[in-house]
Amino acid sequence: MSLIQIKDLNKHFNVLNRREGLGGAFLDLFSGDYNIVRAVDGVSFDIEAGEMIGYIGPNGAGKSTTIKMMTGILKPSSGAILVNGFPPHANRIRQAQIMGVVFGQRTQLWWDLPVIESFKILKDIYRVDQKTFDDHMGLFNELVGLKQLYKQQVRTLSLGQRMLCDITASFLHNPQVVFLDEPTIGLDISVKAKMRTVIKELNQTRNTTIILTTHDLGDVEALCRRIIIIDKGKVLFDGDVKKVNALFGAYRTLKVQVNDFDESTLKALAGQMIQHFGTNNGISISEVEKHWTDITIDQARTPLADVLSFVMTNFPVHDVRIVEISMENVVQKVYDGALS
Ligand SMILES: Nc1ncnc2c1ncn2[C@@H]1O[C@H](COP(=O)(O)OP(=O)(O)O)[C@@H](O)[C@H]1O
Ligand SMILES: [Mg+2]
Repeated sequence: MSLIQIKDLNKHFNVLNRREGLGGAFLDLFSGDYNIVRAVDGVSFDIEAGEMIGYIGPNGAGKSTTIKMMTGILKPSSGAILVNGFPPHANRIRQAQIMGVVFGQRTQLWWDLPVIESFKILKDIYRVDQKTFDDHMGLFNELVGLKQLYKQQVRTLSLGQRMLCDITASFLHNPQVVFLDEPTIGLDISVKAKMRTVIKELNQTRNTTIILTTHDLGDVEALCRRIIIIDKGKVLFDGDVKKVNALFGAYRTLKVQVNDFDESTLKALAGQMIQHFGTNNGISISEVEKHWTDITIDQARTPLADVLSFVMTNFPVHDVRIVEISMENVVQKVYDGALS
């Protein structure tokens, strides 16, 4: 039996279309002019014990809503969900013993207490014995130097420090499955790297199943073998991360700032690119803001370096930046059939 089984899962929210002003508010009381938001819309997947899954998609895709149903915080509108054989919302206390969860946007620690006191409370709540507790804290001290933070009040921690503490807390009772909802949002590269080390270590040494939601493809690339891409409540892709990496790892966006740029320059640039690199060159160009142009390049067809040198020699380039493909781009390309 799979650890997590999800079949035709739906969560629909009724959202009142609010009218403006006091009169509007009065009318809203009587006529239910509702919109249905299909936050999760017919999702099915199974997850095996020990897997580390990247559950990814743009903002508003339905990731957190799915996590909330898996953790029992929300009851599904319809469909089936079983974690370790039970529906999570039916017995939240039993389920809490086998789960850990981190929501990147808020903390499960006590704001006014020193870090170590929060951990001691959780130790009691989950009835963790002293040795397990000491071993766990020791491991996190080794991995991320947690001890330095013990005496600090939670409210005084930086975002990155707080996230590390929250992750420590979520694994404290050695749960079978840990849900990490955007644990790296807003963190700088070095803290992200620490976070990834910790998550990987725990998955490998304790065989903890981990569901990681993120809109950072770097997290997924570093950690997950399998990814599920979701958008508008529906699963667009479920499979090997390598397939996605092979495809999207190839895409880069070259951002160029050109002096005296206008629409005719953009047209000229597009025309010359086609002349130089051919029509099937994997390059698309769009002006995103004044003077800045995005050139998206599929390196499987044209190397970035060639495009860069071409642009530099033929246009009065003021500044350039190179960025990885964004989650929004990935999703668009999946819709366009990139993975089918
Ligand atoms: N409690 C709620 N009431 C109404 N709409 C909601 C609620 N929670 C989430 N939504 C909507 O459901 C959709 C999915 O949200 P969410 O699961 O938070 O997305 P994600 O975590 O992928 O960014 C969004 O359109 C969001 O506005
Ligand atoms: Mg979310």
